[in-house]
Amino acid sequence: MDSHERGPRLPPPRGPLSAAVGEWLCGAGPLPRPADAGKADPWGDDAQLALYLCYELHYRGFAEVGAECEWDPDLLRVRAELEHRFLAVLRADTPGHDGLDDALAALLVEPVEGGGVTHFLCAEGELWQLREYAAQRSLYHLKEADPHAWVLPRLWGRAKAGMAAVEFDEFGGGRADRIHARLFAALMTDLGLDSAYGRYLDAACAEMLAVVNLMSLFGLHRELRGALVGHFADVEITSSPGSRRLAEAMRRTGAGRAAEFFYDEHVEADAVHEQVVRHEVIGGLLAEEPELAADVTFGIDATEHLEDRLARRLLADWRAGRSSLRTPLAPEISHTS
Ligand SMILES: [Fe+2]
Ligand SMILES: [Fe+2]
Repeated sequence: MDSHERGPRLPPPRGPLSAAVGEWLCGAGPLPRPADAGKADPWGDDAQLALYLCYELHYRGFAEVGAECEWDPDLLRVRAELEHRFLAVLRADTPGHDGLDDALAALLVEPVEGGGVTHFLCAEGELWQLREYAAQRSLYHLKEADPHAWVLPRLWGRAKAGMAAVEFDEFGGGRADRIHARLFAALMTDLGLDSAYGRYLDAACAEMLAVVNLMSLFGLHRELRGALVGHFADVEITSSPGSRRLAEAMRRTGAGRAAEFFYDEHVEADAVHEQVVRHEVIGGLLAEEPELAADVTFGIDATEHLEDRLARRLLADWRAGRSSLRTPLAPEISHTS
């Protein structure tokens, strides 16, 4: 069994909470009390990593952690407290739109001058910044579309059919070599990065962990299915123009064919996905459950808020000439042999 099948190794902790959860997962210490889990800054590295560790058990887990930990009731109580705090600050801090139409329309508005990461990378991004961007985003793209698959049993009719159609494309349309997560791994190879699942978890900033934790939170809770649909709509609607800019950045820097291809593929595919998500997934869901419109709106607004936080972090670091990663990247791995 290779490391891809066993899962990645647990990352080092970022504070007492993630330390306690990590130690418990390897049988080396007690869990934090749920009340203590609620005390950490919900936006901070420690709470975000602790929550990420809990969620990762529902994906591929960790090499040194038994699969039975996934449904441990004591761990779930800690996770529930972390989720409760995360949702509370999301609801409190997310600038909201008046309604779904406004939230959807705002996705098509270009960011204010200098505010977009993909705009920056397209216009002036250097190869080291593209490598950092890929390392950060690998936390999601190496499990691309997985958190959204959890919503399928919670939908029916047009919403289910539309969601399944988009997910079918994300998972390669029946071809393993076209699974989007695999295309992203090839992009990482072009950029001289290690494409092993979870390789850059330790390096990723708290803002990136929050982006992925949001998807896991929405995906794992049936009561948040409307928010998950809103999140998915946001991703699909904003992906096509953003992917065009990133494909251009990859071409301009000579990153490689696979690096260009990942984003070229998304320019085409997500222009179609956007229509399916708007008309079938959102339209179908709200035809059945119109009371979920506010949750769909919240899913969009929360996603935008977390993407804005990540963009501010990345651009602030890069404009100051700093790495956005907690641990610097190794020099490019050569794949020319
Ligand atoms: Fe995709
Ligand atoms: Fe897509």
